[in-house]
Parts: sequence; structure tokens; C-alpha cells
Amino acid sequence: MKILAFETSCDETSVAAFERDRGVVAERTRSQMVHATYGGVVPELAAREHLRILDQMTRDVLAEAGWEPGTVDLFAATRGPGLIGALLVGHTFARTLARILRRPFRGVHHLVGHLYSPLLTRKGLEPPFLALIVSGGHTELVRVDDWMVHRILGHTRDDAAGEAFDKVAKMMNLGYPGGPHIEKLAQNAAEGVSFPRARVEGLDFSFSGLKTAVLYWLRDHPDTNLAEVARGFQEAVVQMLLEKLNTAWEQHPTPRVVIAGGVARNGRLREVARTWAQDRGVQLWIPAPQYCMDNAAMIALAADLAEQQGCPPTDPMASPSPGEPIPEQECVHEPTMGTTRPDRS
Ligand code: KG4
Ligand code: ZN
Repeated sequence: MKILAFETSCDETSVAAFERDRGVVAERTRSQMVHATYGGVVPELAAREHLRILDQMTRDVLAEAGWEPGTVDLFAATRGPGLIGALLVGHTFARTLARILRRPFRGVHHLVGHLYSPLLTRKGLEPPFLALIVSGGHTELVRVDDWMVHRILGHTRDDAAGEAFDKVAKMMNLGYPGGPHIEKLAQNAAEGVSFPRARVEGLDFSFSGLKTAVLYWLRDHPDTNLAEVARGFQEAVVQMLLEKLNTAWEQHPTPRVVIAGGVARNGRLREVARTWAQDRGVQLWIPAPQYCMDNAAMIALAADLAEQQGCPPTDPMASPSPGEPIPEQECVHEPTMGTTRPDRS
């Protein structure tokens, strides 16, 4: 089974060639630099940039994989959520190739891609597991009961965790995306400023209060040590994430926990999560850093899982779905013959 997958939901353009038995055989991911001067993603520029480079990237991936386009068994692309213009580029590109070459097409939910992304570099992840997805657009706690069977337990009520990193970095005149800049700066501080943490009922998150606290701190302390601000902010986000993850796990004590999405690249989050998991005998699954950020490999892997689960094929005329929540049931699980467990596990 050869899958050619595309991810263009935001500001990463990514193409991956993926084989069921071998995993990723070739890939290209490019982060768009055009947004850096604006301190955030400009949707129209993102769509144009995807369009400009997608054709050449696809040729490069096919050449590296040694695949003729006609040998691809399945074309896949992110269907949403994301920026509509950006989504349309990759989705239409993949659908058109599929149509010309008379092959099937599968639209993949972006967050479902993140959910299973640890499997790209490590085998053995099996449902049930609990997942924390932390990215620039999302902060979600999800329980995965079976392959492609998901239950949203909590999400952010305002900013996503990565968005908070980006906005605080902007306040401090650091570059975009802000997460890596804040993490680096925080390493220069022996201690962090103590910021108040939001208390939100249940399993939802809120980061806007923390963001405002940083804003007021910077306004009221013009001579403050920025590294101490970065460290205090990062610590507060990490503690808020872990606190909710812990509450969710106490309510749903699964043997495995996934942390995925761009913010999962953060070294401090990884360290605190590792200790948390060790203390509870939980198996922690965090993707390799290059697969935390948006990438087409995770879209290919999720498409393959959906195929193996016998999920109904995507309507070839389907449009992208920019605001779609995580599907609770990606496939209708009927007891069909030939529905197999993924052999990558
Ligand atoms: O998953 P991703 O590439 O794109 C979305 O789906 O949003 O995540 C991007 C987000 C950005 O907000 C970025 O600031 C954050 O991930 N990020 C980090 C780090 N690296 C990326 N946040 C904290 N620490 C990092 N090292
Ligand atoms: Zn993402």
C-alpha cells in the first residue's frame, strides 16, 4: 500500500510518501518564512505559498521514493481543521491527482493525524490511550477507545497553548513562532517570575488570563529580566497542561498517554511529562520532534489506519472542512470481515 499524503492546513507545506510495511520512504516539510515579519500567520499568504511550492515538492518526494505517480495506491490530504485557503490547496491538489490517475482519495482530520503520530517512529502504541494535543491552533484532551474511535474530554476555552507561546513571544519582541524562542530564552534564567494560573472547572483549559498577566508584568516592570519572564510563563503553561492531564488520567486511567502537536517539542514539557508518567507507571508516547509539528507523514499514517479499519472512502467531491471537531467515529464500526488491526502496532 503506497500512500502519497499532503498537509497544508496552516503554515507548513508538507508532502510524504508512505508505505504500510516500511513507513515513511520520502518526505519534505517546509515552514513558511513569509509570516515572520507579521508575528502570526497571514492566511492569504499561506495559501499562495503552498501553491507556489507544492508541485516541485511533490516531484522531489516522488523522485526520492523512486515512485511513478501511477503506482500510488491512495492519495490523502488534510481535510481540516485549518485555514480554508491553505487547506484548499493541498486538498484540491491531492484530489485532482487521484482523479487523473483513477486512484482513491482520503481526506484526513488534522488532529487525528496528530493523535497517532507517535507511531511514525515507534511501534506498539495501542488503544485505549489518553492524548493531549497541544499546538498553535488546538489544546485538546482526547480519549482514544479504539482505532479511530475518539472522545473529546476537554479543550481550551480561549487561546491554544502554542498560541499563548506565540502571543507572549510577540509581546517580548521575540520571533515567530514563539515557542522555540521562549524555550531558549528561559534556559538563561535561574528562576522564573511567578504568574497566577487559571483555575478552570473540569477538563477545559484557559490561557488568556496568563497571557494578560504577562502583559501587565511587562508593562509594570520595564526593567524586568526577560529570561525570567519566559521561564515563569513556560513553567505556568507546562504546570497547567500537566495538571489537567493528571486529572483526566485519574478519571480515565489508561496505561498509555500521548502528548502530540507543536508544543510537545518543548523540552520542559517533555521532562515534566516524563517524570509524571514514571511516577504512575504510565507509558508515555511523544512523537519525534520533527513529527510534533505539522507534517504529511502523520496524515499518511492516519489515512492508512483508516483504510485498515475499513473506514468508508471519502466522497471524491468532498470539500475541506475548516472547522470540523475531532470525529468521534471516523469509521462506522460494523463487524465486517477483513477489518484488521494495524500491523504497525
Ligand atoms: O502543530 P504545529 O506545528 O501547528 C499547529 O497545528 O498549530 O504547532 C505550532 C505551535 C506554535 O504555536 C509554536 O509556537 C509551538 O507549536 N511550538 C512550541 C515549541 N516549538 C513549537 N511551543 C513551545 N515550545 C517549543 N519548543
Ligand atoms: Zn497541527
